[in-house]
Amino acid sequence: MLRPRPCLCVLCGLVGLALAYLLLFGLPNQARAQAPPAAAAPAPTGPVSFIRDVAPILKENCFSCHGAKNPKGKLDMTHFETFAKGGTKGEPFTAGKPDDSYILTALRLTTAGRMPPRESGDPLAPEQIAVIERWIKEGAKLDAEVKPQADLIRELRARWVPPAPKAVYPFPVTVTALAFTPDNKKLVVSGHHELTVWDVGSGKLEKRLRTRCRRALAMLFLPDGKLVVAGGRPAEEGDVCVYNLDGPSKPENGVAVLDGVNDKAVLVARLLVSDDEIECLALSADGKKLASGGSQDRTVNVWDISAGVDKAKLEQSIENHADWVFGVAFSPDGKHLFTCSRDKTAKVWDLTTKESVLTFPDHQQPVNGVGFKPDGKQGYSIGDDGQLRSWNTSGDQAGKQTRALGNHAKAGLKLVQHPKLPLMATCGADMTVKLWNSDTGAAGKVLSGHTDQVFSVALSPDGNLVASGAYNGEVRIWKVADGAMLKTFNAAPGYVPPEAPKK
Ligand code: HEC
Repeated sequence: MLRPRPCLCVLCGLVGLALAYLLLFGLPNQARAQAPPAAAAPAPTGPVSFIRDVAPILKENCFSCHGAKNPKGKLDMTHFETFAKGGTKGEPFTAGKPDDSYILTALRLTTAGRMPPRESGDPLAPEQIAVIERWIKEGAKLDAEVKPQADLIRELRARWVPPAPKAVYPFPVTVTALAFTPDNKKLVVSGHHELTVWDVGSGKLEKRLRTRCRRALAMLFLPDGKLVVAGGRPAEEGDVCVYNLDGPSKPENGVAVLDGVNDKAVLVARLLVSDDEIECLALSADGKKLASGGSQDRTVNVWDISAGVDKAKLEQSIENHADWVFGVAFSPDGKHLFTCSRDKTAKVWDLTTKESVLTFPDHQQPVNGVGFKPDGKQGYSIGDDGQLRSWNTSGDQAGKQTRALGNHAKAGLKLVQHPKLPLMATCGADMTVKLWNSDTGAAGKVLSGHTDQVFSVALSPDGNLVASGAYNGEVRIWKVADGAMLKTFNAAPGYVPPEAPKK
């Protein structure tokens, strides 16, 4: 089975990237050839620029071993200053003298010692080596606008421009996040560098909002109607952005298009920027606090947004998990934070004393979602083991399981909870959505019909509807009361799925 969350750590980088690619562009037998080509390094005309032409090659092929932390050969290439100084072998290049530049020798070696090392990948393409050679020949200069001490990863990120979404998608896009608008009438769906807004009644696409983030992983509406979105680009960057869906737009093929990259009236705030994706979001019941959970940095951030999201104050940055944080939820009284992680635990954090209160370890597999009983006395969590489990939040039994409420046949991927009603929904790799009573823990309707793993789920504010989104881009909207499906569509604009195989 494809892992729902590809490991994107440095060591698994290649495997992870391949999986992320599949995740974004669909199943291997579908339209892989039609996916957009990776941006090729431009063959520079005129002088070679270090930051534009050379640094991207180094980042792609060298930074994983020659980073700031424990660089191989004591050579840190992520800052120009340390790169030029060199490692144990001294300066890797001599300005104007390619023949005296060790780095070129290392790139061209066909024996052991070649960079990148033979066991870690192919040699650089001859054109890439030629770019580095020309740069050295032209004086090995650093661009005037970049400081020698600057973090090149940040510099490259600042220069990165998100691609414009395609008018018509030749491939489906995995639906990783969903949110109903406060009036229950529209559904916001994650896309590829965009969000799409659909009319629940007609199932029609109404708006497309372009985003810097490649994929949204969590979304929620604030009391003032603004949309908070967490996501990013795997292993590249992550952010938490706030959008105004009613901001200025221009019509394109009957759909309102909003620019959430450049238009300040659409992208109203960027609360957080990090080195890898942000996985999850939560809003306190009183709407005054917002929390996010990160991937590589493993950090949970809590903001006070009581004075408005544009005046958000970061209150706490909590490192309480040993791995990516997949879920976060405020306790009903807003005093505690429930979190869960790839480190196979769910935890509770006391926001007042700033301490970890309990750890629930029973899933023994990554934990993908957390919730709680409305009285706050029990926590709920779901993980790769498929089980929805409940556990005590206080007393000497804190962190002890009370029971397993039921399960998905495969990994449980998300858990969402209605803020007021005793209603909870989970979705899983078993292609189903399940409804639960969060007060009694009783299992409710099982919604089946998806033909692929269900990656995202959302409840409407009035509690009448549940929406689900799958790996193959399909969205379904169902009635909570009887589990009837109201609408289904593929959320990649213009994409026409192939005929479903006959069973
Ligand atoms: C998979 C890890 C890995 C990758 C990727 C990698 N290197 Fe290395 N590199 C090493 C190791 C290990 C050494 C130390 C070898 C030694 O000391 O004999 C090293 C040493 C070097 C040195 C000599 C440093 C010194 O002063 O000792 C240079 C120059 C170098 N690498 C350049 C590159 C370039 C350029 C790239 C990208 C095109 C690259 N490396 C990618 C692992 C890597």
